[in-house]
Amino acid sequence: MNRIGFYIIAGTLLAAIFVAARFVLAPTKNAPEISTPQLGVLSPTTAPTIGGPFRLVDQDGQEVTDETYRGKYMLVYFGYTFCPDVCPTSLSAMADTLDILGKLADDIVPIFISVDHQRDTPEHLKEYVKYFYPTLQGLSGSAENITAAAKAYRVYYTKVIEEGADPDDYLMDHTSIIYLMGRDGSFKTHFGHGASPQDMARKIKEVIDGEASD
Ligand code: NI
Repeated sequence: MNRIGFYIIAGTLLAAIFVAARFVLAPTKNAPEISTPQLGVLSPTTAPTIGGPFRLVDQDGQEVTDETYRGKYMLVYFGYTFCPDVCPTSLSAMADTLDILGKLADDIVPIFISVDHQRDTPEHLKEYVKYFYPTLQGLSGSAENITAAAKAYRVYYTKVIEEGADPDDYLMDHTSIIYLMGRDGSFKTHFGHGASPQDMARKIKEVIDGEASD
């Protein structure tokens, strides 16, 4: 067999193998797409949810739950008042977003949930939130209730005491995400740390406009 003949035969064989492989693999390749919804894995009904019930105390010492804010959109952010920069940055961005939204902001309750129940008393939160936005709610509560709220929103937080520091001067490591929840309390969208007020306002307007035209 000359070299060209070998290449022709080898090429034909390779093509045949590819065709056979496609034919054999096709059913298994498609299988997950077909069976996944049937199994309920990652289907919309079983997709992990964000948000849910919480029972906390507002900056006026009133007990509140997620149902307190039904009928309005909620912009939810978890943090703590002693946070050196992450929380102030996020809360300022939240305030700027509401300013950009103008009249639409009347339909949105901005909520700051403290993950530092030891230091963030309602009195302390009341002083803090008013620096950022007039309607900003400052929620706190028992360690147990804060943990439950954070868990519902899949927010991570942990106390950090730097080496050699006064244990009372601890920091809280925490997730920095702003959540937009719907009028019924359901998750709409979220914004990562550093999202610009312009982008957030645009996206929030999209959600509100989209629902208004439904
Ligand atoms: Ni913070």
